Amino acid sequence: MIQTFQALVVSEEKNGDIRREIQTRTLDDLPEGEVIIAVEYSSLNYKDALSAVGNHGVTRRYPHTPGIDTVGRVFSSTIDEFSPGDQVLCMGYDLGMNTAGGFGGYISVPSDWVMALPQGISSLEAMQIGTAGFTAAQCVDRLCRLGLKNGDGPVLVTGATGGVGSLAVRLLSFLEFEVTALTGKPEQTVFLEDIGATHVMARGKLLRGRGKMLLRERWAGVVDTVGGEILATAIKATRYGGMVTCCGNAASGDLPLNVYPFILRGVTLAGIDSAICTMAQRKMIWEKLASVWRFPGLEKVSRTVTLDGLEKEIVSMLKGKARGRIVVDLREER
Ligand SMILES: NC(=O)c1ccc[n+]([C@@H]2O[C@H](COP(=O)([O-])OP(=O)(O)OC[C@H]3O[C@@H](n4cnc5c(N)ncnc54)[C@H](OP(=O)(O)O)[C@@H]3O)[C@@H](O)[C@H]2O)c1
Repeated sequence: MIQTFQALVVSEEKNGDIRREIQTRTLDDLPEGEVIIAVEYSSLNYKDALSAVGNHGVTRRYPHTPGIDTVGRVFSSTIDEFSPGDQVLCMGYDLGMNTAGGFGGYISVPSDWVMALPQGISSLEAMQIGTAGFTAAQCVDRLCRLGLKNGDGPVLVTGATGGVGSLAVRLLSFLEFEVTALTGKPEQTVFLEDIGATHVMARGKLLRGRGKMLLRERWAGVVDTVGGEILATAIKATRYGGMVTCCGNAASGDLPLNVYPFILRGVTLAGIDSAICTMAQRKMIWEKLASVWRFPGLEKVSRTVTLDGLEKEIVSMLKGKARGRIVVDLREER
């Protein structure tokens, strides 16, 4: 019997228009891979929204199925490390970029993209966290390794209502840091306080100092998800010896800055990548998320939709209106 499944397929017309529709696919439509995974859940990340609207910086070739995150069970495997039925995670690498991704009932991938789902975390929880939460955890891990401690002073999280931002707020609060959540959505103040923000700040307030070379020392640490003027202004107000992680460009890919925060205050700017980081790094972060960093309240920062509910969420995310995490349930798509 031919194995069929449903998938979101993004196509590019000759005139450049982009069409998104749910189609019936077969395993033969997937690329050759050592491991075929029956997807239980995926999640919507900013990169998926870009891929879904034809962004060639993310996806070069269409038709294509986005979805950089998947958790599911091994359907078949040509290598001994994985057996049918194993519960596994596959996130990042080329998945959902130019390799058909998690917005379909099955994926077919190289075995070195796959890891066992850590004990102590359910498949739903893994996608409530997803790449966004994994990235937030990488940022917090880096800040801690650079020496940041929870008594040191306020930590700024930018894009705080977004996927990475909201999980960074949640994790930092769980680890008893004082967290300032920066947002363009003041109407989400109650949400941000509920997930652990100590203070909520409007974007406009932070940006008031943007023209100056340096600003009053304020932040012990920063988790930035948006880039541009916001990141530059946050760095100018980072305390002597403070540290800043940079993982996103939701506002801009530019960084309009000078060298003074670095040469006068010894500020450290650390880049974070989740897509092609090593398997050792992935396992280390996921083990933490499944144990000492297993924070409660994932249901407060996430919602679950099915494939046909994705369209609305993609549009909302690209308008900067998303709040928290969107999990995609694919269990009925086969
Ligand atoms: N380096 C990596 O490996 C990695 C991994 C995951 C994500 N990322 C990147 O991190 C960023 C955030 O991802 P995400 O999944 O959290 O996206 P998201 O859920 O869409 O959240 C982005 C948030 O940024 C804020 N924002 C949006 N547009 C803005 C603008 N023009 N100016 C200022 N703030 C704006 C909004 O929050 P507020 O309204 O609360 O301000 C929005 O909710 C993206 O650029 C993504 O590509 C990178």
